[in-house]
Amino acid sequence: MAFHIPLSFPVFNGNENLYTQKAISSGHVATHGQFINKFECKLTKRLKTHQSVALNSGTSALHLALILMGIGPGDEVICQSFTFCASANPIVYLGANPIFVDSEKDTWNICPELLEDAILSRISKGRKPKAIVMVHLFGMPAKMKEILEISIKYEIPVLEDAAEAVGSKYDGKSCGSIGQVGVFSFNGNKIITSGGGGALISNDATLIQRAKHLAAQAREDLPFYHHLEIGYNYKMNNLSAAIGLAQLEQLDEFVKRRRAINKNYRALLEGLPGIHFQTESLDSFSNYWLTAIVVDEQKTGFSNTKLKDALFNRGIESRFLWKPLHTQPIFNRTPYYGGSLSERLFENGLCLPSSSNLTREDQELIVEVIHNELSKTFQ
Ligand SMILES: Cc1ncc(COP(=O)(O)O)c(C=O)c1O
Repeated sequence: MAFHIPLSFPVFNGNENLYTQKAISSGHVATHGQFINKFECKLTKRLKTHQSVALNSGTSALHLALILMGIGPGDEVICQSFTFCASANPIVYLGANPIFVDSEKDTWNICPELLEDAILSRISKGRKPKAIVMVHLFGMPAKMKEILEISIKYEIPVLEDAAEAVGSKYDGKSCGSIGQVGVFSFNGNKIITSGGGGALISNDATLIQRAKHLAAQAREDLPFYHHLEIGYNYKMNNLSAAIGLAQLEQLDEFVKRRRAINKNYRALLEGLPGIHFQTESLDSFSNYWLTAIVVDEQKTGFSNTKLKDALFNRGIESRFLWKPLHTQPIFNRTPYYGGSLSERLFENGLCLPSSSNLTREDQELIVEVIHNELSKTFQ
């Protein structure tokens, strides 16, 4: 169904047409061409200390990152439970086993205390985890200081899934550039898009070179096709990079807009009982890719499902929060450390429309639907 107000729609206000036309005219529409290099350079410049490789999805970036971290069959990898399945699936691609950990109440990201409990428990079983996959959900930076302290204490590297957090910062540093390796997604609904795409980033130039090699079928630099190891067809194509470059040029503007949208929702819903948001700490700067709320039905008198239906009836798209991975049938035998926080977030949460071009009038309409639901309750 085409929504009158979609959840997160791309905005093409910049050089997208110009650059894609140039890519087409050059004849390079596959995995070679000037825009791939330009896109990687622009991303690297923005990250300051880090280099990047442009890939065809965030999922392939996560897969390559885990390979580069040496994850293999039988290894255990800790993963935030409250996330999209793509954070964990690549662990399984490699024959390794995810160990899920619950969230904490402020950022809704991995809980540092539970993370440490999980590490100690796995060590006591003789199975020290090989990596920690943590996520900056909906763009909100996780509690990086505490997570890094644990990573250093137990010598377990951190893979930052910053798929949703392009443009977010923690302590002045770009999300994705804080752990050993970071990944981004440029899927169609993200804050910037390349159609479909992703990137892997690191401050280790050798690692990025190796990622480029593996992403291009591990082809050796010889005049004929020669392969010493198994590679992947994971490179970004030049047409996607052309769109991605134009979008990257507008990232600051999009972040500004989405932060303003979040601020506006908070102002418009302020004082309503039973509606809660993620909490941005003093050292965090969220891109607010999506504004998400949690509805306390005891206080509002309506559930997230009821609100979703009411919005739907007005042509407004909203979306439930991620269903925690430890509750997914596919992962039902996977160890889990935590309580019911992420389950409660899923059961009561809703993502509201947050496109960078959402108008003030559209936002007022969305808030009016919420108020209408409330007034029905208290009639
Ligand atoms: C948290 C998270 N990780 C990974 C991904 C995977 O990215 P992609 O869709 O580009 O493969 C996504 C989004 O789609 C995501 O939201």
